[in-house]
Amino acid sequence: MKILVTGTAGFIGYHLAKKLLERGDEVVGIDNINDYYDVNLKYGRLKELGINLLMMEKIWI
Ligand SMILES: NC(=O)c1ccc[n+]([C@@H]2O[C@H](COP(=O)([O-])OP(=O)(O)OC[C@H]3O[C@@H](n4cnc5c(N)ncnc54)[C@H](O)[C@@H]3O)[C@@H](O)[C@H]2O)c1
Repeated sequence: MKILVTGTAGFIGYHLAKKLLERGDEVVGIDNINDYYDVNLKYGRLKELGINLLMMEKIWI
């Protein structure tokens, strides 16, 4: 199933996306990487999901 997860770099969104990917779903994530807390934590979560900075730059361009 293809599922949209908002706040994918956040605490809940990351864990949800991870579980969905592990069970074989396709995840479309949205996150504006706000600086409410350290954005490096968010980038780290996205990296854990297999999304690197280069991919993000390509998406943002
Ligand atoms: N963590 C909890 O225990 C908990 C419990 C109950 C409810 N909630 C609610 O669940 C939601 C997520 O919680 P969390 O702990 O994952 O928070 P979080 O701050 O870790 O994650 C939220 C993510 O949403 C992104 N975001 C915010 N505004 C955005 C926008 N306009 N467009 C795109 N992305 C945006 C942020 O960059 C962030 O990565 C919040 O509304 C929170 O109040 C959380």
